[in-house]
Amino acid sequence: MRTGGNCLHSTGNGTLIDHSDLHAFVAEESCKPYLELKDVCISFGSNRVLDRVSFQVLPGETVCVLGRSGVGKSVCLRILMGFLKPDSGRVVAACEDITDYPEQELDRIHKKVTMVFQNGALFDSLTVWENVAFPLRELDSLKEEQIRRRVDELLEMVGAKHVRDLLPSDISTGMKRSVAVARALAAKPKAVLFDEPTTMVDPLMARRLGDLIETLKLQLNLTSVVVTHDMRLAEKLADHVVFLDRGKVIFFGTAAEMERSSEPIVQQFLQLDRIDLRVLASTIDRPHRMLG
Ligand SMILES: Nc1ncnc2c1ncn2[C@@H]1O[C@H](COP(=O)(O)OP(=O)(O)OP(=O)(O)O)[C@@H](O)[C@H]1O
Ligand SMILES: [Mg+2]
Repeated sequence: MRTGGNCLHSTGNGTLIDHSDLHAFVAEESCKPYLELKDVCISFGSNRVLDRVSFQVLPGETVCVLGRSGVGKSVCLRILMGFLKPDSGRVVAACEDITDYPEQELDRIHKKVTMVFQNGALFDSLTVWENVAFPLRELDSLKEEQIRRRVDELLEMVGAKHVRDLLPSDISTGMKRSVAVARALAAKPKAVLFDEPTTMVDPLMARRLGDLIETLKLQLNLTSVVVTHDMRLAEKLADHVVFLDRGKVIFFGTAAEMERSSEPIVQQFLQLDRIDLRVLASTIDRPHRMLG
């Protein structure tokens, strides 16, 4: 059936769906990958940050992006969200080529793919509870009772129920991250991009946040990209690791394969991490020495 230029199909249960919806549905069901950068280049002035960067994230998979500070990890996430347009190359999110999408189309994609920013990006003037409720109110389709139930569930899930009535300025960095995760999950996305979820928090909070992301992966089958410096987090979560250096992907593979990489910078990363672990172990074994 054709009406007004749009092709309508029966779904078999009597309802009709718009051709564009059907297209997105079919594409999503059969697609691989869910997220992808294909030969992406981007420069800021004379600073060439990404130089033909490509990697894929399959549905349900977790990919960790590693690399030194300033190498372009956050830029990769902003490109995957469509916040930044690459100079060249293609970008896939929610199985659609979003490279040339205008704002309105990106809003649709952002219902399926969300991002947890490094600083949490919570609204300062709203309580924790209202921050998590915010995206649900935006949906316009939920009753207040449904919103209340969902926000309570999410706060429980991320261990932030006890801070529900506080403002973001009154909670710790780690707790802000947990709340930001709850807010990102509110509208039931299929994919979440995490920017440095465990940076600047104590080791126990880092472990809790890592456990939380792992639980989300296993329970909700979320597709995720996790930007991190934290090798232990990468080992715990990553189906694949992307290692960026000087604008290029210099390694793509599993965390175990990374151990065998011959790239010097990759080996340096691994060795520094082992030194960190030894320091941490010594502080746990002999805390009095560290204090003295
Ligand atoms: N909007 C922008 N305008 C100009 N330069 C930018 C912009 N965004 C990023 N850059 C530059 O791109 C490079 C990569 O930045 P990015 O934030 O992605 O690094 P990163 O790998 O996430 O580092 P870190 O580990 O410190 O967070 C940096 O040199 C940064 O200054
Ligand atoms: Mg960054």
